Amino acid sequence: MQGFSLSPPRRWQGMVNVAVYIIGFIPAIWYFYLGATNQLGADPVKSFEQALGLWALRFLMLTLAISPLRDILGWNFIRYRRALGLLSFYYVLMHLAAYLLLDLAMDFSTLWDDVAKRPFIMFGMAALGLLVPLALTSNNFSIRKMGRKWIWLHRLIYGVAVLVLLHFSLSAKVLSLDHYFYIALIILMLLYRGRRALKRKLRKLK
Ligand code: HEM
Repeated sequence: MQGFSLSPPRRWQGMVNVAVYIIGFIPAIWYFYLGATNQLGADPVKSFEQALGLWALRFLMLTLAISPLRDILGWNFIRYRRALGLLSFYYVLMHLAAYLLLDLAMDFSTLWDDVAKRPFIMFGMAALGLLVPLALTSNNFSIRKMGRKWIWLHRLIYGVAVLVLLHFSLSAKVLSLDHYFYIALIILMLLYRGRRALKRKLRKLK
């Protein structure tokens, strides 16, 4: 299929990548502003924490969508995958900071009680645990140094997706249409990945 690639001329690529990060941080700046000016509703801490979590999820979805979009529609955004993945990681860090600093008000002695009361938090922590090595190795040096091991390591992103699916769907008492939309999207991405892996295995067996 004749696809299209959103690749700017080589000399602009650095600038375009910086632009992706700047645009990516706009929602965080917006929610900081809303929080600072008391415009986050009746439960500002909850709204702030949820907004950062939701943006982490959106950037994770965009990162996972890069391969299916290339394979199915021929759209090649592969150049932006690293920036999108790292943006997801930075939003998770902000989401965690909001949880520790605002939700728990830095009273870390209540952390385990809270985790016991809301076990879905454990899935979020496990997802973050898997995201850390991915973020640390999202650079050209690691790709060169690790070779094929890098590809294996970065398949952990699908484990992250499963953990986030559990974290996100168990975090709400009642699931809204938005929740179902994201849950369906994550499941679709995972099914697509599973189908692609199976096809590759069958091709090797032939
Ligand atoms: C150390 C890791 C994490 C902690 C401690 C954590 C904590 C939390 C908490 C406490 C909530 C409930 C907020 C509330 O309704 O009061 C929540 C919701 C949420 N978290 Fe996390 N989380 C973590 C990791 C993640 C990750 C890795 C993602 C996605 C990439 C994520 C995305 C979300 C989303 C989308 C929601 C629900 C927002 C909504 O219902 O609208 N979290 N998280």
